[in-house]
Amino acid sequence: MWGGRFAGGPAAVMREINASIEVDKRLWREDIRASRAHAAMLASQGILAAEDAKAIDDGLQQVAAEIEAGKLQEDPALEDIHMHVEHRLGELIGDAAGRLHTARSRNDQVATDFKLFVRNAVDEAVTGIDALESVLLQRAEEHSGTVMPGFTHLQSGQPVTLGHHLLAYREMLVRDRSRFADARVRMNESPLGSAALAGTGFDLDRGNTAAALGFDRPTANSLDAVSDRDFAVDYLHAAALCSVHLSRLAEEIILWASQPFGFVKLPDAWSTGSSIMPNKRNPDAAELVRGHSARIIGDLVALLVLLKGLPLAYAKDLQDDKPPIFDAHDLLGLSLAAMAGMMADLIFVPERMRAVAAAGHATATDLADWLVSQAGVPFREAHHISGRAVAAAEAAGKSLDQLTLGELKSVDARIDESVLPYLSVEASVASRRSAGGTAPERVRGAIEEARRQIAAR
Ligand code: ARG
Repeated sequence: MWGGRFAGGPAAVMREINASIEVDKRLWREDIRASRAHAAMLASQGILAAEDAKAIDDGLQQVAAEIEAGKLQEDPALEDIHMHVEHRLGELIGDAAGRLHTARSRNDQVATDFKLFVRNAVDEAVTGIDALESVLLQRAEEHSGTVMPGFTHLQSGQPVTLGHHLLAYREMLVRDRSRFADARVRMNESPLGSAALAGTGFDLDRGNTAAALGFDRPTANSLDAVSDRDFAVDYLHAAALCSVHLSRLAEEIILWASQPFGFVKLPDAWSTGSSIMPNKRNPDAAELVRGHSARIIGDLVALLVLLKGLPLAYAKDLQDDKPPIFDAHDLLGLSLAAMAGMMADLIFVPERMRAVAAAGHATATDLADWLVSQAGVPFREAHHISGRAVAAAEAAGKSLDQLTLGELKSVDARIDESVLPYLSVEASVASRRSAGGTAPERVRGAIEEARRQIAAR
């Protein structure tokens, strides 16, 4: 393709280090789509004769059909997917194929193909998030009143409802979704027509190809257009943070399924056994979701480091932008799907959650709050009294809500029997009616609000 300038061929290792077809063949659909748009625009601008444009378009569709059928003939000498498609087009239609690359460079071509891929990856991520969100809402609705221990420092803090806990993850996903949507808006400009780096002398209609490829407008600066990979970084950042959220949820499933917790049972469909320990039921899917987040974070870091020292405009380093994106795309898709499947099938054990919630003296704050609101005690003093009640319960080998009125009164004489209904875990969660709180009625309200938001999307 540059034989005019060169007398000798590349060294074998040069050819090997230069070839990217193994990786970028995944861009064949985008490559053919962008080439068809480019050829049609060249024809409508009078740069390409109508019969050549027709031959190119028919030929490109045939190349697409061949690749779809698994008949791509890979040749490292042809370097990348762009040269493979053009080469095959030449075999099919002859000389007219050589006119396709008019007013185009692989630099704007690859930027365009890659952006189309990333934009689609964004759309897939949003679809995956939506599916997981709907499972979380369903499970939260089932368990709007199920009491479980709420933790800080992984120590029992106050009882919460399982529905509330699940909706916390829904909030993270809503932010993830908006990060992807925001990235999509920003990235949706077409690099095509920027040519190698400086633009071109041909009278292109860049708005035409932009519209044909679903972009909002052409990019404004050719140097930026061929070297910009911010869109890929935006995607990877959104993916990395989303995968961190999935990893946190995965970690909770792993903990909850462990015997000391016992909050959930893993269904067969989402567990694996052990080759030596017949008793085992391992949360491998959750562990892999947790593990995959490490790789997606690594993908983000790899791309940032790839970009940080690049002068304008295109440099071949940019060929290494694809593995992180493909990796993150594949892993995030799997992680979202696995998490949606697991969450749908997870068997919660409400009795166990309730028992652990009650065992941690988790209503000590409720006792303090009662002293404040019913006996006029300042909160700091009430905190101290409630702490003494917890110590008394521990000494008696009971939980706080098992103390008798006499035992409570001996901690502080201002306590009377009206406190007793406040000390159950059910009463505790029911009382947390502040906006955004864990009370079952709040959880049901939050689910209704979520459904309203979803309907308005
Ligand atoms: N395979 C290249 C890449 O992925 C395409 C662009 C090559 N451009 C060039 N001037 N060598 O980045």
